[in-house]
Amino acid sequence: MPLIINDEYPEKLFREDGKRLDGRDLNELRPIKMEVGVIKNADGSAYMEWGNNKIFAAVYGPRDVHPHHLAKPDRGILRVFYRMATFSVFDRKRPAPGRREKEISMIVADCLEPILFLELYPDTSFEVFIDVMDADGGTRCASTTVAALALADAGIPMKSLVSALAVGKIDGKKVVDLSGIEDKAGEADLPIAITWYNEEISLLQFDGDMDLDDLTEFLDLAKESLAKIHQIQLDSLKSKYVTLKREEGEN
Ligand code: CDP
Repeated sequence: MPLIINDEYPEKLFREDGKRLDGRDLNELRPIKMEVGVIKNADGSAYMEWGNNKIFAAVYGPRDVHPHHLAKPDRGILRVFYRMATFSVFDRKRPAPGRREKEISMIVADCLEPILFLELYPDTSFEVFIDVMDADGGTRCASTTVAALALADAGIPMKSLVSALAVGKIDGKKVVDLSGIEDKAGEADLPIAITWYNEEISLLQFDGDMDLDDLTEFLDLAKESLAKIHQIQLDSLKSKYVTLKREEGEN
């Protein structure tokens, strides 16, 4: 069943029992699953299910730059291509990449660049392809998180992972991890990403209505959930190596 049908939004985003429409508490994440090494033809890859979002990320690099005029003689370049499948949302998305996809590609690249050592790879490119198969709010954050994992799976030297999450306000209450309906019908949406090697914020966007005083509270609220997401990323990387080791033992 489609998750969001045109502009049909519920009047209330909380149930009688105080829970959110999908049964979550204010600070509860949707269920998250991540797996690395899922695309055999890429240098690195990862798949994620985050609530109803289903997203693949595949990485190629370091490799020659095509088209060559984009190459930089003193550093590598990172190119990110975020795309939503035509069937990923209720209203058939036009197959050609739109303005929103270009914007999100740029945002994800801005989050990933600081964790790479691009200065060590002159005349080289790293390409990250992100394909959203099913979308239900927070895909820019989920994409950043799964793309970092795909880079790590490719064995590319990194300073740390980066994790991202949207927090926001719905029916006057601050919540973590907005679903698609909450994103559309709520008052505020604040995607945040953190690079773990220096604990700096590499993404902070804002859409909606909020007092500046709210910002500190939103950041505090995001912190605990971002740490949980980071742990799931680390666990999924480890589990690939545990599986490989087990298979090695069996052969
Ligand atoms: O996905 P994210 O929250 O990062 O970006 P958004 O532009 O705020 O979009 C919120 C949600 O709206 C997406 O996750 C999709 O579920 C939905 N959407 C849609 O239904 N149709 C589109 N063309 C774009 C987004």
